[in-house]
Amino acid sequence: MGAQGFDACFGRPPEVSWVAPGRVNVIGEHTDYNDGFALPVALPLVVTAWLAARNDDQLHVASAQHGGDVAVIADVRPGTVDGWASYVAGAVWALREAGHHVPGLDVYVDGTVPPGAGLSSSAALECAVAAGIDDLLHLGIRRPDLARIAHRGENEFVGAPTGIMDQAASLLCTDRHALLLDARSLHTTAVPFDLAGHALAMMVVDTRTPHRLVDSEYAARRRECEAAARALGVPALRDLDVDALGGEAVTALDPVQRRRVRHIVSENARVLDTVAILTGDADVRAIGPLLTDSHTSLRDDFEVSCDQLDTAVDALLGAGAYGARMTGGGFGGCAIALVDAGREESMLDAVRRAFTDHGFTAPALVPGGPAPGAHRLG
Ligand code: GLA
Repeated sequence: MGAQGFDACFGRPPEVSWVAPGRVNVIGEHTDYNDGFALPVALPLVVTAWLAARNDDQLHVASAQHGGDVAVIADVRPGTVDGWASYVAGAVWALREAGHHVPGLDVYVDGTVPPGAGLSSSAALECAVAAGIDDLLHLGIRRPDLARIAHRGENEFVGAPTGIMDQAASLLCTDRHALLLDARSLHTTAVPFDLAGHALAMMVVDTRTPHRLVDSEYAARRRECEAAARALGVPALRDLDVDALGGEAVTALDPVQRRRVRHIVSENARVLDTVAILTGDADVRAIGPLLTDSHTSLRDDFEVSCDQLDTAVDALLGAGAYGARMTGGGFGGCAIALVDAGREESMLDAVRRAFTDHGFTAPALVPGGPAPGAHRLG
């Protein structure tokens, strides 16, 4: 389909095609821009990019979601492109900024990651394009470096001050595993996440809440964390351990900063505890309470949840989930829950009923992972 779409737009076949997935984060929320730990899994929802080089410097982009209209970007500079095409242009710009000679390109994209659901459709788009260009031009860029490049495109070209988790997840996740990400070093470890083998499943429930606040509040949280790290004299909040939480310096912070710090420090510890359970002999169900504690911390200390997410989490726990939490940036998007395999529909019913009672839009089930990270198609 996509190769035909490319042909219809550009009158020739593509040279390469690359797939990059969206992600869901098991635990470790808002920790990435604090140099901390996260544990995402790739979803079986992807963006595919078909590419071919041009003889000029222009970027011609089209997408199946936008009817195949071709947008021509003659000059790839920050501030000149908006909408979905800025993620494509951002990847090209960031590769050029990194010193790579990237000629003009024809790019056609198609995707199954729902935009606006907090499942990283933007990172999937950036990473499919960046990985496609790397392959097309035989650049041989290491995956962690490619993640940094795609992340720079999102921060400096698109202008969204996100951390690096989403790009790292899209490029570095592997099938049947979660990815332990150290956002400071970009060191990653594949962590076995074979829930089916334990008769379990990770449900992903889209609350279908438009997350209007996410951009401004996300940037505000980031500023609060950076200010707290400065006040505490550490490079990033990752450099504090849980013992520091009871110490004088943290106690002296204003109450809002203190809560933000408590979330980041305790969340980093929960990621490592989760990984210890997943890699040790303990029952995998033991990660459930850590997921639920993460939600409580995001709701009360980091204040990035919302009524729909809290209602979904409560309904899932009430219906027998081992643990549940909001996932992603917050203010809407998805909740996840660790449940017995086969109980997903009845669990979703519980969320549906609670949403009806509150007058919320009906929730939807999203296919869960773990799925493979970015790869070449064909
Ligand atoms: C968004 C950002 C990520 C990360 C999460 C919260 O998804 O893009 O970098 O900060 O929020 O964990």
